Amino acid sequence: MPHTAPESTSLDEVREAALDCQACPLWANATQTVFGEGPAHARIMLVGEQPGDQEDRVGHPFVGPAGRLLDRALEDAGIEREKVYVTNAVKHFKWESRGKRRMHKKPGEREIAACHPWLESELRLVAPALVVAMGATAARALFGRATPIETSRGRVAAFAGGMHIMVTVHPSYLLRVPDEARANAYARFVQDLKLAAPFAEHVSGR
Ligand code: URA
Repeated sequence: MPHTAPESTSLDEVREAALDCQACPLWANATQTVFGEGPAHARIMLVGEQPGDQEDRVGHPFVGPAGRLLDRALEDAGIEREKVYVTNAVKHFKWESRGKRRMHKKPGEREIAACHPWLESELRLVAPALVVAMGATAARALFGRATPIETSRGRVAAFAGGMHIMVTVHPSYLLRVPDEARANAYARFVQDLKLAAPFAEHVSGR
């Protein structure tokens, strides 16, 4: 039972090791580890918060309502999802029961920290040209501190290891904004993603 991601040079090996992770208590109530997915050397890595109810059941990131919205926004921004590596800051679903429903619960600092070695391994091995932090939990995990989304979003900045980083909102946020504000919020999200689009282009040498 590894508590940290192995220093493996194989993403598949790291993914395999993450299946047994018990570095924080979330594994006990989750169905499975939901590791990142996408091309092993994707030029863009999208980082979300944690798997949701559907992701937890099927074992793939961003396949539920937020994932469908993300798919549409990527398409509108001219980015092919199949070319992007999609992952989460926390790889187990944190929830509390309300009647028969499993309600999403925001992961805390300790869970984000416990899961960080897996994210580090993904960053090291995929080595994307651009990392997109979607929402506060992803930004917290990537910058190591609380980062205001609204004032930081939509700007590409230099990041560790020669990578670049951009902050934007989490797609779930767009599902929660009031109807009258949704079209505008969605357009801004697409606008942010359009800044990421040029990074998808292949550069020789990678
Ligand atoms: N929200 C996330 O942050 N990640 C997922 O995989 C699904 C919903």
